[in-house]
Amino acid sequence: MSIKRAINNFFEERYDMRVFRDFSAGQLHKRLPPHTGWGHVFGSLALMLYISQVLTGILLLVYYRPTPEEAHESIKHITGAVPFGWFYRQLHAWGATLMIIALLLHMCRTYFMGAYKKPRELTWVTGVFLFMATITFGFTGYLLPWNELAYWATTVGTEVAGAVPFVGQWVMEFLRGGPGVGHETLSRFFLIHVIILPWFTFAIIGLHLFLMRAQNLATLDPVGEEKKTPPECGIPFHPVHSAKEVSVALLTFGILASLAVLSPWEIGEPANPLVTPEAIKPEWYFLPTYQLLKYFSGPLGKIVGIMVSFVPFILMFLWPFIDRGKERHPKKRPLAVGLGVLAVAGALFFGAVGHLSESTVTIFGTEYEIDIKGFPHRIEESANHVAGSDSIDEHR
Ligand code: HEM
Repeated sequence: MSIKRAINNFFEERYDMRVFRDFSAGQLHKRLPPHTGWGHVFGSLALMLYISQVLTGILLLVYYRPTPEEAHESIKHITGAVPFGWFYRQLHAWGATLMIIALLLHMCRTYFMGAYKKPRELTWVTGVFLFMATITFGFTGYLLPWNELAYWATTVGTEVAGAVPFVGQWVMEFLRGGPGVGHETLSRFFLIHVIILPWFTFAIIGLHLFLMRAQNLATLDPVGEEKKTPPECGIPFHPVHSAKEVSVALLTFGILASLAVLSPWEIGEPANPLVTPEAIKPEWYFLPTYQLLKYFSGPLGKIVGIMVSFVPFILMFLWPFIDRGKERHPKKRPLAVGLGVLAVAGALFFGAVGHLSESTVTIFGTEYEIDIKGFPHRIEESANHVAGSDSIDEHR
């Protein structure tokens, strides 16, 4: 008797395997709406990248030490002495970026195709929770190597929370575990990063996928007129759609491995609370919000700034309940599509300005210094300004 048959028999004799077999066959061969295509692969891509993050994260945990005295050294040890340590550290660091890109594409796809509309509002809301969890993974993970940039980015990031009216100070001290970033902050971020967020994310992913499967993918029909996909014109999940998902995942993991080898992330200098680096910048996905906050100064301005940067997140949660129009097809929703395009363009614009701010660029042979708010100054011009006491520093 083959091993496979023996294992089968073992279970058949003890359990009613038909229930399990019918369920998995139903899921595997489920018919998806006829317009399901390459745009529908980003959700499963995010899932595969999440699994990769968990696996590489477990490997990192074997040698990582979450204390300010040992954290930086332990990362150096992983990359320098542990077999393949450098590789899985890079897979983890680049994997976070690719997962966020996959999520942003997935959100754009579901937004522009109106898939968040009734009856899938909760699929969208659980998705927004997953997005928040993913960027919080990024924020907390950034501090763990305990390097200069991470230390100061966390100091500034938690200060932003501190500016929220009424509860801000409490939230900031709660996150930091005291008045400043130190021992307690590192333990809290570590706990959030390796225990709280992974379990929370697994649970919400389960719910998200359950809702998506129970209601099937949205068609492009208006709300209330969605037709059930008849078996003869639906796309079989397996092997047709699953082949697309696997090929995009293979390509992405190829890119991930290449980035890990060709463009490794620096470990940086160990954190020094006494020395503030020149330009403190958060990870790219926080740059648009970070840049936007720079345009609001003074105590009242800061509060307004925080409110303005919170609004997009609150809108994201509430969007399926705000946009109650019946149409799903992007061509029939000019206002929602226009707003979506504006949001993407705004994020790209402020992200690019944030990236360039406090740096020097050369355009057609002329050197410009980009100030903190993103305004360019020709180098000679800015030198004159310094002489005339109108220095860039004055804008800071
Ligand atoms: C770890 C994070 C996530 C995972 C693993 C995930 C996974 C998936 C998968 C596999 C699908 C099936 C179809 C597709 O891929 O397009 C799906 C559908 C969906 N997701 Fe996500 N998702 C995540 C985050 C999000 C986010 C951030 C949003 C939006 C804020 C979102 C909103 C939706 C909606 C509305 C659907 C239904 C699409 C339809 O019916 O056509 N998801 N998700």
